[in-house]
Amino acid sequence: MTDTETLRSTWLARVADAGDAPALEEVRLAALGKKGEISGLMKELGRMTPEERQTRGADLNRLRDEIDTALRVRRTAMDDAALDARLKSEWLDVTLPGRPRPSGTIHPVSQVMDEVTAIFADMGFSVAEGPQVESDWFNFDALNIPPEHPARQEHDTFFMARAEGDDRAPHVLRTHTSPVQIRAMQAQGAPIRVIAPGRVYRMDMDQTHTPMFHQVEGLAIGRDISMANLKWTLEEFCRAFFEVPAVELRFRASHFPFTEPSAEVDIRCDWSGGQLKIGEGESWLEILGSGMVHPKVLSAAGVDPAEWQGFAFGMGIDRIAMLKYGIPDLRAFFESDLRWLRHYGFAAGDVPSVAGGLSR
Ligand code: PHE
Repeated sequence: MTDTETLRSTWLARVADAGDAPALEEVRLAALGKKGEISGLMKELGRMTPEERQTRGADLNRLRDEIDTALRVRRTAMDDAALDARLKSEWLDVTLPGRPRPSGTIHPVSQVMDEVTAIFADMGFSVAEGPQVESDWFNFDALNIPPEHPARQEHDTFFMARAEGDDRAPHVLRTHTSPVQIRAMQAQGAPIRVIAPGRVYRMDMDQTHTPMFHQVEGLAIGRDISMANLKWTLEEFCRAFFEVPAVELRFRASHFPFTEPSAEVDIRCDWSGGQLKIGEGESWLEILGSGMVHPKVLSAAGVDPAEWQGFAFGMGIDRIAMLKYGIPDLRAFFESDLRWLRHYGFAAGDVPSVAGGLSR
């Protein structure tokens, strides 16, 4: 075997034996690096005769190229193998089902507020808001409930504390959403069409009463808005909300200091068989108070009662939620029992249903 052939088989064997990239690099340096064996042999060419140099030089060049090629091939094979291994270990099955994460539900009260808002928005009502801690003027006086009026006692009011020595009338937790009537008229004047959903507070607790509950106030003031408009609006609302075309309302004469005349409104329903049906049967369930806004209330809010008139109503949101979704006990609404919330709650995607609601 000639010298170059020995070199060739030795180096190609070393290339083939290199187990990984660093080992391969060592082989490359040992053969072709500045101090490598092949490089060293090539330096010796300078000391040879031109004839010797011609054959020896050509042999060494070929050898160098051969080793270089072998190194590259081996290097590529190593890279490919490494990539294959990575692809195998990092393999991801995109067809696997996702891991379920616990997700909350929309509370029936929130759902019903959205539904109510959507239906009244369709009828041209915008949403107004007021504070839950209210001055006694907005909660009572402006609504024609003077300090000595018996209605103040009936409201079972929660009072806020005043600082020692401050004998102004204490603020209250609003007992109804009616103060928002005043705030909205003060802010917008007349004509006006607003609803005001929100929390209200009264000291009361049994199967149908909780100390905090929800109302939605409605207010429509114009030049000739009448009780007939009130009746149509409420019937139209109930048809859309309960999704029952044959919904029947009963207007019962009543009294509120802030409306004249006043009416409480009941809805016809049927409890027989333990299942609640709206629009049939012999039972009536009260769902709201209403009436024509009292002239004194308009005046208190800066609206001239000689020019403007209209209706207002206050509806129990929790009540109508119980009715629509067949939820028997009001107290459960606010106990945050996860089993209850999962059962009666709504998925985030449930859009308020107004479908087929309003006849125009
Ligand atoms: N504020 C009354 C209540 O809470 C309801 C109501 C509102 C009645 C507007 C008439 C007009 O009982």
